[in-house]
Amino acid sequence: MSSVAAPTQELATNPLREGLDQERVPDASCLVIFGASGDLTQRKLIPALYSLAHDGLLPTGQTIIGFARPDYTDDAFRMAMRESCEKYARTRPVDNAVWENFAQSLFYVQGDFTDGQAYVRLNQRLRECDRTRGTGGRRIYYLAVPPQHFPTISKLLGAEGMVNDPESGGPFTRVIIEKPFGHDLQSAKELNRVAVTTFRERQVFRIDHYLGKETVQNLLVLRFSNGIFEPFWNRQYIDHIQFTVAESIGVEKRGSYFETAGITRDIIQNHLLQLVSLVAMEPPVAFEADPVRDEKVKVLRGLREFPRGREPENAVRGQYSDGSVLGEKAAAYRKEENVNPESKTETYAAMKIFVDNWRWADVPFYIRAGKRLPKRVTDIAIHFRPAPYPMWRRLPSVNVQPNVLAIRIQPDEGISLKFDSKVPGPSVRTAPVQMEFRYATSFGGEPPEAYERLLLETMLGDSTLFARRDEVETAWAWLDPLLNAWAADSRPPDFYPAGTWGPESADRLIEKDGRKWRRP
Ligand code: BG6
Repeated sequence: MSSVAAPTQELATNPLREGLDQERVPDASCLVIFGASGDLTQRKLIPALYSLAHDGLLPTGQTIIGFARPDYTDDAFRMAMRESCEKYARTRPVDNAVWENFAQSLFYVQGDFTDGQAYVRLNQRLRECDRTRGTGGRRIYYLAVPPQHFPTISKLLGAEGMVNDPESGGPFTRVIIEKPFGHDLQSAKELNRVAVTTFRERQVFRIDHYLGKETVQNLLVLRFSNGIFEPFWNRQYIDHIQFTVAESIGVEKRGSYFETAGITRDIIQNHLLQLVSLVAMEPPVAFEADPVRDEKVKVLRGLREFPRGREPENAVRGQYSDGSVLGEKAAAYRKEENVNPESKTETYAAMKIFVDNWRWADVPFYIRAGKRLPKRVTDIAIHFRPAPYPMWRRLPSVNVQPNVLAIRIQPDEGISLKFDSKVPGPSVRTAPVQMEFRYATSFGGEPPEAYERLLLETMLGDSTLFARRDEVETAWAWLDPLLNAWAADSRPPDFYPAGTWGPESADRLIEKDGRKWRRP
């Protein structure tokens, strides 16, 4: 073990801590990252932890242990992680003084997570850290590995006595797992069943990184901290809602994963349905883990079932063919690495869905997600019903358009309201105008990365921003029939050239209702 510096970071004197609720300062723990040599660790986890350290949000003594197969020393691991932070941290360039302190909290244990002996070494290291860094037996295991390894890891952690039952009153043990939480309802149930053989549900933190995004959290503030929106937030005033998760990138190096997932499992089952839940949910009795998640799961339970035998009736699946995105040539999905040249996997999906409840009866939610679309944008557009009486209808120069409240999740985070205004001049002419709120303008700088917030919440033990078991299972239960119908269909998805807004069938899906996709 290389030398361990005594923790020096003094949180109490950090100006960023001023006014921070003391309950929001976690106790120091050992965070073990399984899969520490992988992409997620390098691109997201360590840069997020560094940014938290930079902003003075990590507790004194917080310890991070990378666990993976390659043979690193602590110092080699630290060097590699510094490079990652230089490339990916929000708070760049890396500050030498902050880094020196942060690097002292980073350690590495070499091992294969299927080998019981490796857990003995890991446990020794953890105990050493408890003595030298004051982590008091508190543990967070971050499984940055494919979910199929979860059973093995949890079994071996349990066998080595590394999981403390919260009922025992001792130091906490928590486990963070990454999506995909299963491939369908059955596999999700199995994963959840295995989870509770070693951990209790409240120890399991299922990450859906969309919930860590500032603008996603702001949805609740927008709805429930303002008096003016909620009265209109229902079927009486809302005509329909559009949800768009568009990416300009393709599947990059993840062809083999994507082949088994497709965009519906990759984005819709989790990120997009989280957005739907937050937009549609009833006000929770408190902003706490269970009240919030109870309301979200009620929305998922209200999703109208796909018509039996005609599941894809209001759903479209697409796949990108050769094209160009942002001025660069982009090859067809079927030509990507590790992709079957005759693949039927969907890289785009659009659906018209309904939440069958009192608030939303018969209000269509049009949802779409796709890769290789013209740009990266996540956007929710609430389209209001038109004014009750078209007073200006006799004037040809007047083209009254419905109001749209657009919530831009990323990039250029913000909210805008479109409404009609009179064009200055002697005659009555109208034109749509926008009222805009931009995060960058109002608050300056970039909002924290989703992983920063989620890692901090896990340290605090607050699972409000994590997916609960029943949310995951309810979402799968709803989607399974559509996915099965698509799997049984021998036809390929509808093709769309890379760099366009999806297949024409997606336009028809909404246009047959007399509406149009909004260009976000
Ligand atoms: C991940 C998906 O969960 O989210 C990726 O697996 C996708 O395919 C990514 O690219 C999108 O995240 P973000 O934060 O860039 O919208």
